[in-house]
Amino acid sequence: MKIIAVVNLKGGVGKTTTSILIATQLAVLGYTVTVLDMDIQGSATDWARIADEDGTPLPFEVRPGNHASLRSFKPTTDFTIIDTPPADPTVVDAAVKASDLVIVPTSPGFMDTDRAWSTVEVTATQVPTYVLLSRFDGRTNDAADFAAALDERGVARFETIIPASVPIGRLRGSVAQPSKFRFDNLTTELLEVL
Ligand SMILES: Nc1ncnc2c1ncn2[C@@H]1O[C@H](COP(=O)(O)OP(=O)(O)O)[C@@H](O)[C@H]1O
Ligand SMILES: [Mg+2]
Repeated sequence: MKIIAVVNLKGGVGKTTTSILIATQLAVLGYTVTVLDMDIQGSATDWARIADEDGTPLPFEVRPGNHASLRSFKPTTDFTIIDTPPADPTVVDAAVKASDLVIVPTSPGFMDTDRAWSTVEVTATQVPTYVLLSRFDGRTNDAADFAAALDERGVARFETIIPASVPIGRLRGSVAQPSKFRFDNLTTELLEVL
């Protein structure tokens, strides 16, 4: 049983989207999955609730969690994905300490990539940490430039890049098809490095 924390001290970089789509792909592959929603905003929980209300439930359970409940958390599924809040170092620290691997989704732009560096600095000394380039525009060199900067500094990253895509932005509350948005490739890579 493996625990994966999806972490970035910045909000709006795709943490919840990444958590839900990786969980969906793991379920597609036949694994049992739990998403632990540690964000008090409850975006992952809302996603699951809307899917339930629409009669198309997500193929895994989304449970609320906090740093106190994480201390006594015993995984019951093949994978647990912890979706974390931004800007709450206590919760992020607890999630990182509980996990086997950390994913840091990062969108382009100096403010975002800058925050990714500081997130990686905190997590990589504790747990294997992989940066995920997310919401990158394929028409620019942003992804290649940032990937090169990560490689130069020896920061691990996934080869798969999640594109900026209007349909991804509309997935909330629905059961996504991960292969439409490269989350199948991403999950394959994830399983290889776990
Ligand atoms: N690859 C993407 N392309 C376009 N919009 C995206 C993408 N990933 C996420 N979004 C949208 O960006 C917003 C923030 O994403 P979210 O996953 O909630 O980030 P976080 O959990 O880090 O705050 C949401 O409205 C989401 O639908
Ligand atoms: Mg979120």
